[in-house]
Parts: sequence; C-alpha cells; structure tokens
Amino acid sequence: MIVSLKVFRFDPSKDERPYYQTYEVEADPMDRLLDCLNRVRWEQDPTLSYRWSCGHGICGSDGMRINGICGLACQKLVKNFKEEVLIEPLPVFKVVKDLIVDLGPFLERYNSIKPYLITKSPPPKQERPQSPEKQHLFEEAIRCILCGCCTASCPINQNPETANYVGPAALVRAFRYLFDSRDEATEERIALLDHKDGAWGCQTLWKCTEVCPKEIPVTKQIAQIKRRIYETKHK
Ligand code: SF4
Ligand code: FES
Repeated sequence: MIVSLKVFRFDPSKDERPYYQTYEVEADPMDRLLDCLNRVRWEQDPTLSYRWSCGHGICGSDGMRINGICGLACQKLVKNFKEEVLIEPLPVFKVVKDLIVDLGPFLERYNSIKPYLITKSPPPKQERPQSPEKQHLFEEAIRCILCGCCTASCPINQNPETANYVGPAALVRAFRYLFDSRDEATEERIALLDHKDGAWGCQTLWKCTEVCPKEIPVTKQIAQIKRRIYETKHK
C-alpha cells in the first residue's frame, strides 16, 4: 500500500515559519508509522528530523502528534490509517527542528518532584525488602517511559495561564515514590505536591490517560495523590 504522510517541518535556523511537506512511501500494512518515517529519511529526504531509538515502545523517544492525538510512531500500524496521516511534533514543547522538541523544561519538572527513593533510616545489612503486595500498589507507574505524550495532551499544560502545572508525567513518578513502602519522605513529597501547580493543578480531564502508550491509569493515580495529601493533612 502507499502511505501519504503530511509532516510538520520547521528549522528555526533558516525557516521564517513552519510548513508542511507531503511524502508518499510504499509500506506493508503491518509496518508502523516509524518505519514510514525511516523510509522517508533513508530514501527520500535525509533532512527530516525526529527522534527514535528502540522501535518497540520502550525508550519513549518517538512521541509525536499523529492526526491530532499524541502517541508513539513505533506503535501505530499503517493499516489503521485510511487517508493522509498528519504528523506533528508534541504540542506544549518548543520545536527544536521538525518533530524534535525541547524536553528540557519537561525533565526539570520531573526532577522537581525528586524522582528517586529517599530513605532516612540506617541502611540494612542487605537490601530494603518489600512484599509483592506493597510493590503491586505502584507497579503500573513503573511502566512510565517518559515519552511526554500525557503532558503534551493535557489542556492544563497547553493553556499558557496554567502552563506551570507540573504535569501528569511528573505526577505519575511522584505517585510511584509516595506509595512505595520503602520511601521515608512522605511529608517532604507532600509539600512538593500540595499546591495549585502540583497535584491540585489536575482538573481530572482524562486526556493523559487516553493517550498513555503504556496504559497507565494516570488520572486515577493523580487522584490518589490528592487523597493522600488530604488524609495526611487531616489525620
Ligand atoms: Fe508517557 Fe504514559 Fe509516562 Fe505519560 S505516563 S510520560 S504518557 S508513559
Ligand atoms: Fe522507542 Fe518508540 S522508538 S518508544
């Protein structure tokens, strides 16, 4: 089959404004959109820029907006697209070139929630044990590959007036440590999350959950953070 891709192009070093370029590639119905982009780059236009690495939904680097919905190009089969496919960079982030965006601010916010285990008690002789039941509480959150699709799809992050909201990806990681029985910084974490640009910035719009390629129940986890904040402050 022939796949037609209408791709966002912009090189800030030479283009005055963005434009769209259409490419046609021959593809097998079971190819992914990433395969088509690679074919364009390898056979037609080496100037087309985008990120990818694993090709299998693991590295999170090929997040882009496909027909208006954020997702991973390596997870989209061409057989599911009947007409021209519109491919754009993730919204919210600044375009570096074509489909590549600057994830620096995204990672700064991610770092702001202290995405690591914090312990205060003396280390045991061996590892800090955890039961499978307790690990199960945050197992889904561990699947996050930091693709940024949730934050890019969030209307709160898209609104310039509320753009300081830390965003769903950072909150998923905050959830992961807040509900980890080995972590000993609950109060510190709650102080980081208990404000209008933290967990309370979420207006439960579900867009993050709809697009997450790892099927993480993002909105539910943010709601559980809010409940944990409330319970901790009212106990
Ligand atoms: Fe990507 Fe899902 Fe992680 Fe958001 S929560 S960064 S959509 S994997
Ligand atoms: Fe790694 Fe798509 S290329 S997630």
